[in-house]
Amino acid sequence: MRDEACVYLVGAGPGDPDLLTRKAYRLLQEADVIVYDRLVSEEILALIPAGTSRIFVGKASGNHHLGQDEINELLTNLARRARMIVRLKGGDPLIFGRGSEEALHLAQQGVRFEIVPGITAASACTTYAGIPLTHRGLAGSVRFVAGHCRTDQPLDLDWQSLADPDSTLVIYMGLANLAEIQQKLIDAGLDARTPAALIENGSTPRQRRILTTLGNLAQTSSEQQVVSPALAVIGRVVSLAGEMDWFAQNVDVGCGERSEPHQALNCR
Ligand SMILES: C[S@@+](CC[C@H](N)C(=O)[O-])C[C@H]1O[C@@H](n2cnc3c(N)ncnc32)[C@H](O)[C@@H]1O
Repeated sequence: MRDEACVYLVGAGPGDPDLLTRKAYRLLQEADVIVYDRLVSEEILALIPAGTSRIFVGKASGNHHLGQDEINELLTNLARRARMIVRLKGGDPLIFGRGSEEALHLAQQGVRFEIVPGITAASACTTYAGIPLTHRGLAGSVRFVAGHCRTDQPLDLDWQSLADPDSTLVIYMGLANLAEIQQKLIDAGLDARTPAALIENGSTPRQRRILTTLGNLAQTSSEQQVVSPALAVIGRVVSLAGEMDWFAQNVDVGCGERSEPHQALNCR
């Protein structure tokens, strides 16, 4: 084993602790210090040994506990004091997670790092919502886009290419801009009747899956008071959600003796 400090940029997945990789779980048990943000679920934080130092660095939209530069600096400073530092991020660290910015900073500072992929929200949340990202005859490709921009900047997306009826579109961080996204896609030619879904707190006992259409996306979100973290999914694959709703079905039928949604998942 090397004595040199190492920062592990670890993906925690979307919330369900059973979706952690074995490597992520092992690192959580062995770390000297864990630096985490808002998207890491309580259920995953509960797996951290009692004696391990934890540092919360926030990152609710528009309410950053620490700025990115300060987080970068914190990681470098920790690497001077501790041997094993885990930087724990929701989902996958390299998908809208700024993990690459932290990795580049560490590289520039000469700090050793490793990256541990996690299951990204688009994959896990759609699966738990009964929506396949691709399906023969409905969608042969998938696009992940960020539905927000830096403060006061308009969304800068290639609407023409996104308005593809044969593709599935997953929008991260788009809640505040759903009306604009909906209108731009319709203006670019995507049918307003295209099935769409909103998935809030995906893969956790608090998951809500709301089915709608592209033309009603923003209105549905506001009527249902959807809150972050949430994904919007647009595409014909959403039409399969009714039949493939395994997560909610388990909850509804209350498999076995257990009624908690999360526990019900363990029913075989
Ligand atoms: C800053 S991005 C981080 C994405 C993360 N790195 C990943 O790979 O999933 C945060 C956005 O991811 C989405 N997200 C993350 N976890 C989610 C969850 N459990 N349910 C729904 N959306 C989620 C939401 O759109 C949220 O605003």
